[in-house]
Amino acid sequence: MNVTDSAIYRRYVEANGNSRRHAERARAHVPTGTSRALLRHAPFPFYTVKGEGAYTTDLDGNRRIDFHGNYTAMIHGHAHPEITAAVMARLPTGTAYSSPSVDEEALAALLCERVPSVEQVVFNNSGSEAVMVALRAARAVTGRDRIGRFEGGYHGSSDFMLVGGHHLPSIDDPVRVSFPHPDFAGVPRAACDDVVLMRYNSPEALVEAVRRHGHELAAIIVEPMLGAGGIIPAEPEFLMVLREETRRAGIALICDEVITLRQAYGGGQSLYQLDPDLTTMAKIIGGGFPIGAVGGKREFMRCFNEPELGGTTANLGTFSANAISVTAGLTAMRLLDAASIESLNSLGEATRETLRIILQKHAPAAQVSGSGSLFQIHWTRAALRDARAVESADQTLKLLTCLGLSNRSIHISVRGMGALSTPMTASHVEALGSALEGTLSEMASEGWNLGL
Ligand SMILES: Cc1ncc(COP(=O)(O)O)c(C=O)c1O
Repeated sequence: MNVTDSAIYRRYVEANGNSRRHAERARAHVPTGTSRALLRHAPFPFYTVKGEGAYTTDLDGNRRIDFHGNYTAMIHGHAHPEITAAVMARLPTGTAYSSPSVDEEALAALLCERVPSVEQVVFNNSGSEAVMVALRAARAVTGRDRIGRFEGGYHGSSDFMLVGGHHLPSIDDPVRVSFPHPDFAGVPRAACDDVVLMRYNSPEALVEAVRRHGHELAAIIVEPMLGAGGIIPAEPEFLMVLREETRRAGIALICDEVITLRQAYGGGQSLYQLDPDLTTMAKIIGGGFPIGAVGGKREFMRCFNEPELGGTTANLGTFSANAISVTAGLTAMRLLDAASIESLNSLGEATRETLRIILQKHAPAAQVSGSGSLFQIHWTRAALRDARAVESADQTLKLLTCLGLSNRSIHISVRGMGALSTPMTASHVEALGSALEGTLSEMASEGWNLGL
């Protein structure tokens, strides 16, 4: 059956008439109807008009439990009363000044206190910017240009980081080291020349890459769990070898914690006792407002104020460390204390267990991955260790699952990712479980092969 003939697909279209009409109108002035490429999906995304705690409401009045959480950023759900109050109190005295504001220091101190490898912090406006600046810092300190990264890793939208994450090269040996291609039109070939691509969770690939290219690598950037690449946790040995190899070869290790900072009080790195040189952060540290941050050891952070490294490393941005983002972020991070992370993570474990049981019963071709407060449903039987396994998933079943859940008042990302937020309880997880069972039964009754 063609996916557009599915009752699930048709019901989504019917239930979201205002969103469909809005998408058509918006396309006149905004290509595809939304500026955010990663929110586009077939047949069209619904448009949200309100968020409140664990729920959002769309243009058609559909209310859903938001397991998407703006790609994990909204860890306290929407319009959290304390964050809203802090921002409302700060707004009347201005938002972004022409000289430094005093607000950023407290958030920087909080991050240094929590993440042992972070001794100093500079703020900017997004995770993409944080990664761009961290790479620049690594180049300034090491005097080298090339960057190592892993297949399936997502590090935001700078040119260097938009190469090789998708359209993986078709080699299939366990030691995979390759040079990437642009993932998107308009990314220059030159960006690829400076990037070495390695297989995730493969110590062999790492050792080989460092043997061949170590002398020219400024940095290797890694997520302690593939986030956008499938919510696939790193294997401890992989990160251990990564730290050893980078240290030995004088390569800066950048830990990208834009998604994983939520996983533990000291961030994802603390779960592995990983001691990176630089750490990038964003999403949850802005309390729902735009922010990015680069933190790290003093010997690396000194590039931001030491001209002898060839000039001060640039961390710029008209709105960097603006009063509102850091006020919201500080409130959000104080609310996210060790106890609330622990209870989020145990709800996460219960969620994955609920999904696992349902998938085993109704959809043997699917599985769930994740850790902490994150999960992802994958329509593949491949062992989930790297990006190749994630990319083998059935795209049609993935889309139908997302639309079927949406029809049942649950929002997960179209790639199957879900994130918990602090307003959620066991009842939200139960609702997710029943919606998934309903969706899978409907898919089975339409004849979709859930056992592939
Ligand atoms: C690991 C990681 N790094 C960087 C980014 C980019 O962050 P932003 O979307 O704030 O630019 C993301 C975004 O999802 C991410 O997941």
